[in-house]
Amino acid sequence: AAPVYATLSGEAPLVIAHRGASGYLPEHTLAGYELAIKMGADVVEPDLQQTADGVLVAIHDATLIRTTNVADLFEPRNGGYRVADFTLAEIKTLTALPTRTASTSYPGYTPSMADPFRVPTFEEVMALVKAHNQATGDTVGIYPEAKTPNSFAMNAKILEQMQAYGFDGSVPNTFIQTFSHEGARQLAGMQDILAMDNAIAALGYVIKTGDAYGVYDATTQTVSALDDLAGFADGLGVNLGYDLDAGFIEAAHALGLAVHGWTFRPTTPEAAEAQFLPWIEAGMDGFFTDYPALAVGALDAL
Ligand code: G3P
Ligand code: CA
Repeated sequence: AAPVYATLSGEAPLVIAHRGASGYLPEHTLAGYELAIKMGADVVEPDLQQTADGVLVAIHDATLIRTTNVADLFEPRNGGYRVADFTLAEIKTLTALPTRTASTSYPGYTPSMADPFRVPTFEEVMALVKAHNQATGDTVGIYPEAKTPNSFAMNAKILEQMQAYGFDGSVPNTFIQTFSHEGARQLAGMQDILAMDNAIAALGYVIKTGDAYGVYDATTQTVSALDDLAGFADGLGVNLGYDLDAGFIEAAHALGLAVHGWTFRPTTPEAAEAQFLPWIEAGMDGFFTDYPALAVGALDAL
């Protein structure tokens, strides 16, 4: 019989490719996103920063140093290698480097693009996903994270570009996420104005005080109550540690909030089963994972 899921939708939890297939290939690269889609990810996650000339690029850190070879090619600027201090043309000369368990190749996978390991623009990521959906009829979603969430101009740019690529609510499983709950509220208001229908996810750590659950807002260093978050958010992206438990998922679901946990990093099928099963049973709605193949495998094994 088909498994019964305790998710908010009743559907299988979403496999969200965290920074692409970042356990296998350099994070936030077109090859990493393409491999994640081939592995069966439902959603790909680009973190977003902005270049000196105002272009949204998919990269996690505010600086280029950890994930690219920038230090081999450029002198530091303003004391470092901030994304915001380099133009897109300069950033396009860099090569993204594998981090953690990633490598520069994956068995059986040949990237379809000429330059698989550059820092991609947000538009390039969306074009890749859109082309896949158009070619296959799939509905792979995107889950961009506004890394400068209180910038009105940057948030507006994210939404305008999503609208231009058709990620306007017509592709399911497309969330917009941020660690700033005020930024998330701003995004929700802006997409109302733009008549977009994507879901908003507020990120943070689960904190339980007495019987009440909340989510820590890293920007204001305060804990947001679940019913306040439910006023503008559709989902919560939460760290797997702290006070996250099945009771939190139940409380969030009671308010109509989906729960997506991060970051799942099993490296074997056995470890994947052990990590994912309790959260599948608890009704978690999505898994941010560096290893989409292992998450898909754990769900297929049910
Ligand atoms: O967005 C969920 C998760 O990605 C948050 O952590 O630091 O990997 O962006 P981080
Ligand atoms: Ca993220």
